[in-house]
Amino acid sequence: MKILIIGSGGREHALAWKLSLDERVQHIYIAPGNGGTAYENKCQNVEINYNDINKLLQFAKDNRIDYTVVGPEEPLSNGIVDLFENAGMKIFGPNQKSAMMESSKLFAKEIMMNANIPTAHYKKFTIYDEAYSYIKEHGVPIVIKVDGLAAGKGVTVATTMEMAENALKEIFIDNIFGSAGNSVVIEDFMQGEEATYLAITDGETILPLSISQDHKQVYDDDKGANTGGMGAYTPAPIVDSNKFDFVTEHIARPMIQELKKQGIIYKGVIYAGLMIDGDSIKVVEFNCRFGDPECQVVLSKIKSGLLDAIIATCNDSLKDVSLENTAETSVCVIMTSGGYPKDYKSGYEISGIDNANNIPGIKVFHSGTKVIDNRTYTSGGRVLCVTAIDKDLQSAIDRAYQGISQISFQDMWYRKDIGKKGLNKHK
Ligand code: GLY
Repeated sequence: MKILIIGSGGREHALAWKLSLDERVQHIYIAPGNGGTAYENKCQNVEINYNDINKLLQFAKDNRIDYTVVGPEEPLSNGIVDLFENAGMKIFGPNQKSAMMESSKLFAKEIMMNANIPTAHYKKFTIYDEAYSYIKEHGVPIVIKVDGLAAGKGVTVATTMEMAENALKEIFIDNIFGSAGNSVVIEDFMQGEEATYLAITDGETILPLSISQDHKQVYDDDKGANTGGMGAYTPAPIVDSNKFDFVTEHIARPMIQELKKQGIIYKGVIYAGLMIDGDSIKVVEFNCRFGDPECQVVLSKIKSGLLDAIIATCNDSLKDVSLENTAETSVCVIMTSGGYPKDYKSGYEISGIDNANNIPGIKVFHSGTKVIDNRTYTSGGRVLCVTAIDKDLQSAIDRAYQGISQISFQDMWYRKDIGKKGLNKHK
């Protein structure tokens, strides 16, 4: 079987690695991939930008790809699934209308309201003056989200009036988000701790994956700017089995059912970003893809069934599939270029990746790396994702940091407290 994976991050490296372990898979192309996918067993990078969906379709046809798996949200919201399916090609991911659960915050809020899915109260604004009056009247903390995709930069959790005013100015006056900022959602601030629920669905059956917790802020103790994620672990004890079932039955299922009422069949990955506050569970956001770095830990826990789930989703037969997970805990720590998520330098040589990979239970996934003459260099903000699996959370944390201790590059940065919140829950 030949697989094409679309994307270039740690998430796509983890997908390529996990699928390469299945003996039915002969060859995996990754477009465009990174320095890690280039050297993974059975894998080959293809120099096609992940947003060039017509070129990707031509490649898939020319190379007789059996299944295409889409990592990032942009090609999904640009309609790559509709394009491939119309051409008779099998592809794993939501179609363009379903992807609006991520590409339009307003659409997602309306679906949640119609389906009685618990989420923060919100209002929509398209005019600066009206939005400004609302925040003045409401006060802080308050959350301001641009409606469209903004590469993870479109959400401001404003804890001061100055932050809220600045966010509105950037959206409506400076127009820094372009048309993505034509509408904004302003919603109530939610107290609590975040967790990530991931599931695979064919629009009918829901196959939940292990619950995880990401660490969004760049510095320890959740300080500093928001990033795409600085580390994750699974399972996350903040979501016990009752809460987990609640999310499947009262969040994920109503979501796909409400979409179906509107004639939209959601297939692929459901990502529900949750806010947990005691017994209260509310949705912060829906995404239409695996999270990065949540994917790296969740896939590390899967013993078997991922390829079957992908194939069955494409063929509307997910009810016949089950996933087998290990009982172990998985932890990943992201190594970044110093300065990320703002300005950073790259092009520095990385040493020690092989030493880390030689430690049992460690797998180093690449994000922003490139290989030149057999040497690996940094080429992005998020560079590596050191992932460890072990018998419990403390052992997996220790192992991940043991892996980190082998690796070095100029300006490297990583959080030192990944998983600490989970340890506190265990105590
Ligand atoms: N780690 C957060 C995300 O993938 O959206």
